[in-house]
Amino acid sequence: MDYLKITGPTTIEGSVDIAGAKNAALPLIAMTILAKNSVNIGNIPEVVDIRTLLKLLGNLGATYTLGEHQVTIDTTTLNDTKATYSIVKTMRASILVLGPLLARFGHCEVSLPGGCAIGQRPIDLHLKALEKMGAKITIHGGYVRAVAEKGLRGAHIIFDKITVTGTANIIMAAALARGKTTITNAAREPEVAQLCEVLRSSGISIDGIGTAELTIYGTDRRLIDIQPFDVIPDRIEAGTYLCAGAITGSKITLNKVRHDHLEAVIEKFMEMGFTFDITRNSITLYPAKSIKPVSIVTQEYPAFPTDMQAQFMALATQAVGTSTIEERLFENRFMHVSELQRLGADIRLSGSHANITGPSKLFGADVMATDLRASSALVLAAMSADGETDVHRIYHLDRGYEQLEVKLKSLGAKIERLKE
Ligand code: EPZ
Repeated sequence: MDYLKITGPTTIEGSVDIAGAKNAALPLIAMTILAKNSVNIGNIPEVVDIRTLLKLLGNLGATYTLGEHQVTIDTTTLNDTKATYSIVKTMRASILVLGPLLARFGHCEVSLPGGCAIGQRPIDLHLKALEKMGAKITIHGGYVRAVAEKGLRGAHIIFDKITVTGTANIIMAAALARGKTTITNAAREPEVAQLCEVLRSSGISIDGIGTAELTIYGTDRRLIDIQPFDVIPDRIEAGTYLCAGAITGSKITLNKVRHDHLEAVIEKFMEMGFTFDITRNSITLYPAKSIKPVSIVTQEYPAFPTDMQAQFMALATQAVGTSTIEERLFENRFMHVSELQRLGADIRLSGSHANITGPSKLFGADVMATDLRASSALVLAAMSADGETDVHRIYHLDRGYEQLEVKLKSLGAKIERLKE
């Protein structure tokens, strides 16, 4: 198993290109199940989760060619509709094939994704919405069995909670349903908006893109011709690199980034005393003279994203004063706290609230990654810690960050990937 050895404290300098968004690419790859043609997707991030989903489609009979940051997928050869546990257990976002498989074939079986380190991660809202569209859903032997032999019908879906992949699943199901589907309380994440934009450019009539009220007019199972497109930049990767500059007191420039997808995050950096130069597709962060404490509540887009919570907690250990973070989306997304405490952080937890008092002098130690974003928070803290830090179980990192150590090394960080 690989681990990262980081020597701090270190400053970094220079610029880094942001990759395509993992959480946009995953639904967009699942969307190719709706296509009657071979689909070309550009700006694909080279991360494990993408390869996992492509492998799943391959197991169902699709063929694909994965090039450098691009993939061509042909789902005209799909001949199976059972997404097996062996793959789904490694990536819960596999649930994104449920809506499109059911819409196209009228039946499918998808292994229940199960929870993960950050929470129980239920899919009840996905299933309830598909039932409203006429699907018969049963759970059997750890699998969701969905049947709609006459095809799905449009319906008015009201999500009790905002769910990103739930919204994506229903948008894709609605694209091939008979008639109109409206979704109330839809997720507004940029990744969901891009899915709508690509479907619209492929002939699906969709209103309300980017808002919480979506209307989709289905084709009644007629497959669609999906034009080539590029995945939007990864706003969470971008926020993570801005944190790398911030926590090391360095100026850093990001290229190929959409600052409009990061407004709530940039606002919090500014509250902490950081300043920016922003152009159409670049962001430059300048270090703060003294890092001010911050108060953060994680919420759905466009508010502050839960996927940046761990990274800002690492940064808050260097703020002068006490910061507060409330995690509202996931019930167990503080796994990084005990690891940050091993480095010397002063963090007190009370339920979904964390109080972080700084500035703490951090010292290198062995720490363990527990989930994707927690791993990046440990790397950030290690860059500001005095001495050597070994971050173990970095397979979590490889799921969602493209060559993190290579990019950080190119910025001057002292970081090596080694074998246990
Ligand atoms: C997506 O997960 C992202 N993953 C997550 O990113 C992200 O943290 C999350 O959205 C929130 O922004 C992908 O896009 C692949 P949800 P998702 O359904 O869709 C509850 C990362 O680091 N809920 O929006 O699975 C759920 O328990 C990952 O890249 C139900 O109760 O999240 C949670 O409390 C981690 N029932 C809340 O809604 C359901 O049927 C939001 O979950 C579905 C969700």
